[in-house]
Amino acid sequence: MEKLVICGGRRLSGEIDVQGAKNSALPILAATVLIKGESVIHNCPDLSDIDAAIKILKHLGCKVKKENNTLMVDSREISCYNIPDTLMREMRSSIVFLGSVLGRMGKAVMSSPGGCDIGLRPIDLHLSSLRTLGIKVDECHGTLICTKEKPIVGGVVSLSFPSVGATENIMLACALSEGRTVILNAAREPEIKDLADFLNSCGCNIEIGSHGTVAISGVSELHECEHHVISDRIASLTFMSAVAASGGDVILKKTDTSSFMSVIPIFEQMGCEINNRGSSLRIKMHKRPEAVLDIRTMPYPGFPTDAQAPVTAVLSIAKGTSVLVENIFENRFKHIPELQRMGAKIKIEGKVAIIDGTAQLYGAKVISPDLRGGAALVVAGLSAAGTTVVEQISHIDRGYENIEKSLSALGADIKRVKV
Ligand code: EPZ
Repeated sequence: MEKLVICGGRRLSGEIDVQGAKNSALPILAATVLIKGESVIHNCPDLSDIDAAIKILKHLGCKVKKENNTLMVDSREISCYNIPDTLMREMRSSIVFLGSVLGRMGKAVMSSPGGCDIGLRPIDLHLSSLRTLGIKVDECHGTLICTKEKPIVGGVVSLSFPSVGATENIMLACALSEGRTVILNAAREPEIKDLADFLNSCGCNIEIGSHGTVAISGVSELHECEHHVISDRIASLTFMSAVAASGGDVILKKTDTSSFMSVIPIFEQMGCEINNRGSSLRIKMHKRPEAVLDIRTMPYPGFPTDAQAPVTAVLSIAKGTSVLVENIFENRFKHIPELQRMGAKIKIEGKVAIIDGTAQLYGAKVISPDLRGGAALVVAGLSAAGTTVVEQISHIDRGYENIEKSLSALGADIKRVKV
């Protein structure tokens, strides 16, 4: 067990490279199962969720080599189509292997991924979409058995909600198919385009439409390719939150500001000075943040739910009252009781958080409730008076590569300590 010990109150300065996108690398690693050859994936972040995906790939029969942030996945010999519960439970987003294992093997058997820290995380849209495509889907005692009894010949799949995971699973199931499948009301997150770019580099033909449509013209075989994963927009927004809360002057490099354009105005409303240079961004903050009256998390391109917790930490010390509505997940305020232990004045009314900004938080012992909630506690600790100890940081390591090294490089006093 490890914890992070943070002595708050230090301004941040310097520059850091933003990691590759966890939520792009994971579906792309799942997609390598479709290729009867070697895929080379660059800019893969070094995270425990990536390690969990590698375990699944090896279980399926893939050979995986890792050189720093490059993964080589050789999927010539896929030997099985079932993923055991132990591996499924290590990472909630293992469900994204459903489409690729089904696409390659014609069958997929795996346990239904449980809910997780932020909500029930149902997969009804995944399964109803596969049934629409003619896949036989059986669920018994928590096990999913999906069988492609006949080739997928294309059609239209309309999603009642633009689910990221469901969109990815449909793309993966249809990449090796006949005919043309069109997804209506598909997710529009940048990670969807990155997955399409990877599959198209392997010979598929996927078009991302302008009105939330994704069209997949399946092929009989996909070939080897090399791919560079996009920058992690949530990591960028997390480091921007750290600067907004602690003050300072930081340059984010290897970012992609086009993937979070809707959020930059929020940081400017908080009082940050942003110099947006596309693949780099300079953020300066020399005063106490201002409150932001109305933030609502929405599917892309709206305010991303994954940035809600870190931004809440900033608004906890803002001048004035902010109102934040979490529209995507039903249980994504678990960082708030921990922030309250640090002196935050936040009221929760259902999916609404009313944040009455206080001049300063004070250090405390807090427990990371989930990935982005843990990041929020780090952001709060950086600005708080005194020492903050964040426990259960394995949640944070799922999505942030060496978070304490990146922040120390910017002048933060943060150490990883073995408990
Ligand atoms: C992806 O999760 C991301 N994870 C999440 O990031 C992110 O918050 C989310 O998309 C939204 O952007 C990965 O990409 C690995 P959804 P996913 O399907 O695919 C409901 C992080 O912190 N829903 O778009 O699970 C669901 O309950 C993680 O990096 C159904 O009802 O998100 C939720 O309320 C957290 N039925 C909403 O849709 C379904 O079949 C959004 O879910 C599927 C989803």
